[in-house]
Amino acid sequence: MNHQKMKSMTTLLLIFSIFTLPSFLTNTEAVYLYHMCPNTTTFTPNSTFQSNLNRLLSNLSSNANRSTGFYNVTVQTTNNAVYGLFLCRGDVVGTDACETCVATATTEAPQRCPVEKQVVIWYDDCMLRYSNVSFFSTVTESPRWYMWNTQNATDPTRFNQVMAASVNQAASEAVGDADKFGTNQANVSGLISVYSLGQCTQDLSATDCNRCLRGTIALLPSCCNGALGARVLYPSCNVRYEVYPFYAQNAASAPEPAPGPPPPLPPPTKGKSKIPTRTIVAIVVPISVSVLLFVVGYCCITRRARKKYNQAAADEPSGKHIYPSAILLLFILVDSPFIYSSSLNVVLLWFGWLCR
Ligand SMILES: *[C@@H]1O[C@H](CO)[C@@H](O)[C@H](O)[C@H]1NC(C)=O
Ligand SMILES: *[C@@H]1O[C@H](CO)[C@@H](O)[C@H](O)[C@H]1NC(C)=O
Ligand SMILES: *[C@@H]1O[C@H](CO)[C@@H](O)[C@H](O)[C@H]1NC(C)=O
Ligand SMILES: *[C@@H]1O[C@H](CO)[C@@H](O)[C@H](O)[C@H]1NC(C)=O
Ligand SMILES: *[C@@H]1O[C@H](CO)[C@@H](O)[C@H](O)[C@H]1NC(C)=O
Ligand SMILES: *[C@@H]1O[C@H](CO)[C@@H](O)[C@H](O)[C@H]1NC(C)=O
Ligand SMILES: *[C@@H]1O[C@H](CO)[C@@H](O)[C@H](O)[C@H]1NC(C)=O
Ligand SMILES: *[C@@H]1O[C@H](CO)[C@@H](O)[C@H](O)[C@H]1NC(C)=O
Repeated sequence: MNHQKMKSMTTLLLIFSIFTLPSFLTNTEAVYLYHMCPNTTTFTPNSTFQSNLNRLLSNLSSNANRSTGFYNVTVQTTNNAVYGLFLCRGDVVGTDACETCVATATTEAPQRCPVEKQVVIWYDDCMLRYSNVSFFSTVTESPRWYMWNTQNATDPTRFNQVMAASVNQAASEAVGDADKFGTNQANVSGLISVYSLGQCTQDLSATDCNRCLRGTIALLPSCCNGALGARVLYPSCNVRYEVYPFYAQNAASAPEPAPGPPPPLPPPTKGKSKIPTRTIVAIVVPISVSVLLFVVGYCCITRRARKKYNQAAADEPSGKHIYPSAILLLFILVDSPFIYSSSLNVVLLWFGWLCR
């Protein structure tokens, strides 16, 4: 195999990578972050509480298609009340991602917390909370949870300045927004932007939302100083910033549906696939990988066989690192659920590079 052929092989791999990435990027599976359920308040299985909770969860799940991305409900019987709500991230409201996330949350919460009465569970795209104690319209600041990127900014002083301003701006947007959701993008340097998001549960007043969000922001310097991305999650509100756009920017500024009488139902436009994404991925990925490994393996073998002929001519074109690093860049840009896809691509490309 000559140099030219190997180059086209690598190009083929690159093209494959570019085409496979979007299939993972559109994956709508809910990404679990964390949950909290103290085992100090528990119920007995098959009790009235349990049946009320089941009603509550199915009610929440069937309301995930609401245009606000938020719903709170109470299921009450004598001496037994359960209060619950869900909140979808503002930019996924009205998409499959919101409904998928709420469906996942209402299924997984009772699995992770089988007997606990007071539960908060967070996902990338939504959160779910329920309790036997009414919590609507009150700011709850614990249990809380932080997450941060282990990569630090190269110029933390400048980065923190821009980030703080951006996060505060996103919070202000959220406080003033009917759906209590705000985003902001700010320029750190010519190349790096910081993307921020703030959101409160919609039962809070603007004043309470403001108090809650300022509380989360005040924690950023102590939890996540200089980190290139971070989240602070409270039961009543949350903030997040990253150096890549993690929210859908166009959807974030979509006009609000007019209040008042409910708008007519839009015609069903999206033909939902009946085959779950997981299944498609489970079938497509192994086949693609097998085919690629076969092709790459074949090339390696034929190349090795001819190596002594090509050795001298095999001097690297100076741009050789571009393929792996291009994909590594994608690897950094894409969010956690896609790391599998990205690492796969990196592995394949290194394969190609090693056998070049
Ligand atoms: C609650 O959890 C703690 C630790 O997580 C454990 O030590 C304790 O036994 C648990 N209590 C009950 C009643 O399950
Ligand atoms: C909630 O449940 C706990 C534990 O079962 C109980 O002690 C508490 O009184 C309940 N609170 C309300 C408001 O029902
Ligand atoms: C609860 O009810 C289910 C069936 O509805 C039964 O299989 C299970 O054993 C019951 N659990 C308890 C602790 O009673
Ligand atoms: C469940 O949700 C519907 C709206 O979809 C609401 O009308 C109903 O009252 C709720 N059920 C309960 C038990 O709260
Ligand atoms: C939301 O879904 C429920 C069933 O889960 C359905 O009855 C209702 O019409 C849907 N509402 C909208 C606005 O699509
Ligand atoms: C939802 O929350 C609002 C605001 O706190 C409250 O007034 C309302 O009663 C709640 N709805 C239900 C069904 O509990
Ligand atoms: C980032 O900074 C924190 C302290 O602010 C430090 O503990 C951590 O090791 C740094 N991470 C990297 C990758 O440099
Ligand atoms: C971003 O900031 C840098 C310096 O901090 C400036 O040179 C550049 O013009 C800015 N870009 C935009 C689009 O504002």
